[in-house]
Amino acid sequence: MLPRRTDFPKGFLFGTATSAYQIEGYGTGGAGPTHWDSFAATPGNVAGAADGARACDHYHRFANDLDLVAGAGFDIYRFSTSWARVMPDGGTLNPQGLDFYDRLVDAMLARGLRPALTLYHWELPAALADRGGWANRDTAERFADFAAQIARRLGDRVWSWATINEPWCVSWLSHFEGHHAPGLRDIRATARAMHHVELAHGRALAALRAEGMDNCGVVLNFEPAQPATDSPATHAATDLFDAVMNRFFLGAMTRGEYPDTVLAGLGPHMPPGWAADMPAIAAPLDWLGVNYYTIKRIDAAPGPWPGWRIAPPQGATTDMGWEIAPDALTGLLDRIAAQTGDLPLYVTENGMAAPDTVQNGKVQDDDRIAYIAAHLRAARAAIDRGVPLRGYVVWSLMDNFEWAFGYGKRFGLVHVDVDTQRRTPKASWHALAQMLTGDGT
Ligand code: NOJ
Repeated sequence: MLPRRTDFPKGFLFGTATSAYQIEGYGTGGAGPTHWDSFAATPGNVAGAADGARACDHYHRFANDLDLVAGAGFDIYRFSTSWARVMPDGGTLNPQGLDFYDRLVDAMLARGLRPALTLYHWELPAALADRGGWANRDTAERFADFAAQIARRLGDRVWSWATINEPWCVSWLSHFEGHHAPGLRDIRATARAMHHVELAHGRALAALRAEGMDNCGVVLNFEPAQPATDSPATHAATDLFDAVMNRFFLGAMTRGEYPDTVLAGLGPHMPPGWAADMPAIAAPLDWLGVNYYTIKRIDAAPGPWPGWRIAPPQGATTDMGWEIAPDALTGLLDRIAAQTGDLPLYVTENGMAAPDTVQNGKVQDDDRIAYIAAHLRAARAAIDRGVPLRGYVVWSLMDNFEWAFGYGKRFGLVHVDVDTQRRTPKASWHALAQMLTGDGT
């Protein structure tokens, strides 16, 4: 069911991804506390009162985990560095933390993997959260220091750099919808967080450049929006959803502009002098990462700005309740490329959650194989239309801490039993190994 590697252009890269908080286990190696620890410790925030304390114990098991990446024949391993592991108070270096990522990167290289490093995948050092977190402009400046330290230590071996993973989640989802740490529902904090995360990207990019790094980009998440009805109000609500979700970050980082319709709501709450930061935010990228899982159907809603609500999905959904819409990936990539020209694009995340269980030592996740196959075909179709897509990365290597959903939502190619920490490669892992190496056994 999966296409063949040779169906893709020569040099097209395949990978799989994880992030630090979701797999490492935070009570290890002198790492400092983060705002996700406290968010998870607050009743009602995370399903099953789960947290990342042990997660997949990757801190101790990384060699075995990287064997699983290499064993499937992947070219790229996308991972993230925990700021609080490297700088427990957000500023002071923890040599043990840097040593861990040093060993991790060396272990990737020893297995022929290209290390694709994301500097920030959501766990903010608690000390910085105490000072206002992303609502405080200074967090962006501190982030640049962190970026420089990582570049100095790992810059001779890292293949690609991403500043921030999914700035929309870091800001909107976490400060307006309250679903992720710090769990706020505050429009002023949202406006500030949105801008400061953009600025943090710009400052970190400058820091990476100053350290001589190349192959630098950012990872944005996109959800193409479709009006649930044909009324003018629904169309306006859909356009605003699209502006917040799909245009706010891309437009700023590639053209130095925020959509007027978003400023109509956030403008009064933006930090003073924000416009002067736009050139720094729009500094040239070497590539853009596109995370794609689903589309959203939007309806107008009464009440204050932004005046939309998410309408029910249509057709098949994943275990997250997300509509499965592979064809929309082709159009999305087309639309992005129309704005970014010949900037290399990567699908940096795509995958699905399913209620996988181990039976007789096997996990038969045929739905996931079909999901990945359909999205690979959609990616291939975009290449046919001239989109400069250079790679595709599956989320995730293994089942892990799915943020507010805890351990109940399984995205892995490898099943993880969180009690025993046993890893069981699923049928999807074997199918990809067959595709990528010709040997799926
Ligand atoms: C996006 C995030 O980058 C990742 O952390 C998360 O687990 C997946 N999507 C699935 O929700």
